[in-house]
Amino acid sequence: MHSDSVAVHAGREDLTALGVHALPLDLSSTNPLPDILRGGESYESMATGGYPLPDGGAVYARLWNPTVARFESALARLERADTAVAFGSGMAAMTAAILAHTTMIGRRHVVAVRPLYGGTDHLLATGLLGAEVTFCEEAGVAGAVRPDTGLVILETPANPTLDLVDIAAVVAQAGTVPVLVDNTFATPVLQNPVTLGAAMALHSATKYLGGHGDVVAGVIACGEETASRLRQVRAVTGGLLHPLGAYLLHRGLTTLPIRVRAQQDNAVRIAEWLAEHPAVERVFYPGLDGDPRGLLNRQMRGTGAMISLALRDGFEAAGRITARTRLFTHAVSLGGVDSLIQHPAALTHRPVAPEARPSAGVVRLSIGLEHVDDLVEDLDQALAAARTPVLSAR
Ligand SMILES: Cc1ncc(COP(=O)(O)O)c(C=O)c1O
Repeated sequence: MHSDSVAVHAGREDLTALGVHALPLDLSSTNPLPDILRGGESYESMATGGYPLPDGGAVYARLWNPTVARFESALARLERADTAVAFGSGMAAMTAAILAHTTMIGRRHVVAVRPLYGGTDHLLATGLLGAEVTFCEEAGVAGAVRPDTGLVILETPANPTLDLVDIAAVVAQAGTVPVLVDNTFATPVLQNPVTLGAAMALHSATKYLGGHGDVVAGVIACGEETASRLRQVRAVTGGLLHPLGAYLLHRGLTTLPIRVRAQQDNAVRIAEWLAEHPAVERVFYPGLDGDPRGLLNRQMRGTGAMISLALRDGFEAAGRITARTRLFTHAVSLGGVDSLIQHPAALTHRPVAPEARPSAGVVRLSIGLEHVDDLVEDLDQALAAARTPVLSAR
């Protein structure tokens, strides 16, 4: 089946037999127990990363929820992975992945390829989870891996530079160490890291998967053995996704492919237009430099809908453009149906060490579904305000 059809039908296979057409939403925080013994055995199964036992019930919502499980099965199919585990946020998912591959298995070292989303960088750099981290560039992964390395983390396209990292090459460098790819920017529509050898594809589902700016969530697509450990961490630490969020995400998946392609069409046109604009020093957008490493062809099925741009007049201009856009809302987050603009150095990447922080003249655009001519017009009038007297005198 094509992924457009999977997006519409996955996780709904049993609905006709149930006599319903829309997704069922189960908001129970607790579940009636059949008896002490079977309820207890089901509890034990879930608390150790397994599933509810057929005659034991789901017991308690922190351990298991059928609406969340439905969304997980649909996302796993889109990511071409065995299964998936959903969390209350992208950072809860990242936290569980780190714990499951360090503390939980007696390893203490993580290799992280920069650049990463500021929150991920911050989580790793603080050492809050007890892991020691080596930050490196793509080519440095093999050199950074140690006998006690439990996990390699990368993000592609990366936030906010839109750098592409070669997933298969990092997997080869990592050897037996599992690789986690943050696939938030690409979405499963454009890239499936697990098919390229990654052990996990992580999403801030808050972004494209939800697509409407009304859910905070995270999800990791992976194999069953990894999922069992992630579920165990989730049950113990309490990072489960609320079922209403799972319901909205599952509904959002149906339009994911069509949204991503339409947003990408807008982004291609806007990136090309920005590249010619006198107030813009550089546009960061996959493929705009001709894809010298052939990565777009090899690991992606498109260029996505995120654009970063360096403004000639730096921070001052960034402040003016973000204050002047009308259709682009000045707000963090990304991937929704409406366009957003934000300043990574001041916001999403504020906690990142100065040497890895984006430059002060860079703003990031998340391109939405508005008509592209309206978006260009909005950016044009905002960029006019961003020009210095020297530029406007030209
Ligand atoms: C690429 C990426 N990964 C992870 C996260 C964290 O996700 P959440 O905000 O859902 O916790 C974000 C959030 O902006 C992100 O952009």
